[in-house]
Amino acid sequence: MKVTLITGASGGIGEALACQLAAKKHNLLLVARNTQKLKALCEVLSERYGITAQYIAADLSKADAARVVFDETRMRNLLVNVLVNNAGIGSSGEFIKNNLEAELAMLQLNNASMVALCHLFLPDMVQRKEGSIINVASLAAFFPSPYMSVYAASKVFVRSFTEALTEECKPQGINVMLFSPGFTSTDFMNSPGNDNAWGKTLTAGAYTQTPQQVAKEMVEAWQKKKTFHVSGLLNAFFANILGILPNAMVARMFANSKRKKMNV
Ligand SMILES: NC(=O)c1ccc[n+]([C@@H]2O[C@H](COP(=O)([O-])OP(=O)(O)OC[C@H]3O[C@@H](n4cnc5c(N)ncnc54)[C@H](OP(=O)(O)O)[C@@H]3O)[C@@H](O)[C@H]2O)c1
Repeated sequence: MKVTLITGASGGIGEALACQLAAKKHNLLLVARNTQKLKALCEVLSERYGITAQYIAADLSKADAARVVFDETRMRNLLVNVLVNNAGIGSSGEFIKNNLEAELAMLQLNNASMVALCHLFLPDMVQRKEGSIINVASLAAFFPSPYMSVYAASKVFVRSFTEALTEECKPQGINVMLFSPGFTSTDFMNSPGNDNAWGKTLTAGAYTQTPQQVAKEMVEAWQKKKTFHVSGLLNAFFANILGILPNAMVARMFANSKRKKMNV
């Protein structure tokens, strides 16, 4: 059976995406850690839309998790036709005070597992000359972000990797899209790494979309076979402007602004 695999589907943007794709009759394979939420979502979506929705509970901050997910799809005879690498966490604060283990686990989740899932599922798509991949980055993929240094760098990685993969996959007929949300009203900024005073300097008064709006833009961009989309017109404008300024200038600007807000 052909399925759309969405990582980070137990909440936020991933959950909203699962709902919208279920309405379009995609059979779903949802991946995240929270078994209860995944199970409940699968039940609701299967019943409401008459699709097959199943889940794999996996912690993608672990090095072997992508392989476990891949092997499980083989066991279940599932053909992953659309792969959405959406799972991701953030961290805010002074780099030297942040927990190193947590930062490295974030890189495993945001980067290494995403690379591994692409590497595992692409060969079959290439063989069938059918399939697509969506990698979820962030507005933070377009400039350095002091006091969010490792998260922003992880999203720069997502951007660079995905833009390169897009071109490698074009001759094979596989569409690879870089999708970059801006602030979105999910639990992202309330998660342990972001829920601190430095994180709050970012979000206060910021232009914010709902996860449903972001998921709708993602589905529309995917349907149009776009390879690049920044969610929200204002975010797209900022990505363009900040993208043409020298990185060092943008970093200095953000560092000064955040220090001012923090009174340090
Ligand atoms: N919200 C924003 O403002 C914003 C802005 C720019 C970019 N983004 C990006 O958008 C994507 C989705 O974020 P969101 O806002 O929807 O965040 P969210 O509401 O916090 O949801 C994150 C999802 O990722 C899953 N996840 C977290 N750690 C995981 C792990 N170790 N293994 C497997 N799954 C894990 C979570 O499920 P479990 O807890 O069940 O594992 C959840 O389903 C992320 O890549 C994020 O970087 C978000």
